[in-house]
Order: sequence, then C-alpha cells, then structure tokens
Amino acid sequence: MSESVPTAKSQGPLAGISSFFNRKILRTDRSRWNYQYEKGLWDGLENLDELARFSVLAGYVQFLKPNNPAILEIGCGEGIMAQRIGRQHYGSYLGTDVADTAIERARQRFGDEQTQFEAVDMNNLRTEQKFDVIIFNEAIYYLEPMVDKLVTQYAPMLKPDGLLIISMNTGRHANSEARWKEIEAGFATVDSTFVKTDKNGWDVKVLRPLTA
Ligand SMILES: C[S@@+](CC[C@H](N)C(=O)[O-])C[C@H]1O[C@@H](n2cnc3c(N)ncnc32)[C@H](O)[C@@H]1O
Repeated sequence: MSESVPTAKSQGPLAGISSFFNRKILRTDRSRWNYQYEKGLWDGLENLDELARFSVLAGYVQFLKPNNPAILEIGCGEGIMAQRIGRQHYGSYLGTDVADTAIERARQRFGDEQTQFEAVDMNNLRTEQKFDVIIFNEAIYYLEPMVDKLVTQYAPMLKPDGLLIISMNTGRHANSEARWKEIEAGFATVDSTFVKTDKNGWDVKVLRPLTA
C-alpha cells in the first residue's frame, strides 16, 4: 500500500533556496505536506486547544465500538488520533497519510503490532481489509470527488454496522456546510457534535452508509 519519494530538506547556505523550492516548486501533495511536517507547521495539533476535537472522536469510538474494533484512519498525520483513542480500545489501527515524514514519526512514536502506519494517498488507497470504523479527522477536504469516493471506495471497506467518523472545521475556508450536505445525501447521520473552543470550531459526525 505504501509508496515513497525523496523529501527535500536542507541546512546551511542553501537553506533559503531549499525553503523557496519547497514552498513554490514542490507542487505535489506529498512534497508539500512533507515540507510542512518537516518545518513543524503541524506541531500545534498536539496542543490543548485541539484536545476537545480529538476527545470527541475518541469518545465516539470507545462508546460505539467497545469490542476491539478494527480502525482505519485517513490523513492520520503523526498518529495523534491513535494515541488519544488508546491501544486498549482497539484491536487494530491502520493510520494512513500522504506525508511519509509524518508516517515515519507516527511509526516511531506509536507503532506496534496493533498499530500500523502506511504512507498512501487517500485518493488511491485500496485494500481488501474491512474495518469497524473509518476516520477522516480534518482530512476529508483532500478526497476528490469526495462523496463519490466515500461511497464507492470507502463504504465497501466497512464491515456490516461499520461507521464513518468525520470531523470538519466550521471556518469559512472549509466550506463545511456544502460538504456536509453532499455527504449526508449519501450517508445517514448516527450522531453529531459541535466542538467549540476559544480558537476554533468543528463538526464531528458519525455516519453509516445508506445501504447498510
Ligand atoms: C489538517 S491535517 C490533519 C491531521 C490529523 N488528522 C489531525 O486531525 O490533526 C491534514 C492531513 O491530511 C493529510 N493529507 C492531505 N492530503 C492527503 C491525501 N491526498 N492523502 C492522504 N493524506 C492526505 C496531510 O498530510 C495531513 O496529515
């Protein structure tokens, strides 16, 4: 399932050129996200002001799938979601992300027999494995075409009674209202929580395929 590409990282006198190269020239998703993780631009995801969002998702998994669920996370970054759910609350965890830099860190910090991480683009991910839960935590924005792939690519990866959990930022740039409308045309909403902190807001929804 994994692919790997070289990442651009440089120090010393060429660092400025490297930085410009990374920001302006490396246009593939993987290069851009690797660059951002290498620069620590996503370190804030572990901060207190992101706790509420992760806690709602973790709570849903623990409450709705209490018996060693098989979990697939898409756009898992450095694996924080797996850590917040806690390995005692899942049978297996497969975290995937396009950024191999983030995946390598996730492996080093949280990887074990139960908890695997793979570098793979969500738009190309294919597997015969079936999951109790599939999580898109602040990552659904990068799935295109979103609902078509949710229905044809991801829903078939769910076990019977399997659930999709999606978190979306309510800020202007996420265009979340339109996205939710599209998603809820293809999936039934099992439950929904609005998470509001001093800095941010997110809708977290649990969904199941309409055909299930
Ligand atoms: C906003 S971050 C969210 C990270 C983490 N899920 C969280 O909630 O803190 C979005 C993540 O999606 C990943 N991503 C972006 N495009 C992707 C793609 N096409 N396939 C897989 N992952 C992707 C990025 O590398 C990044 O880790």
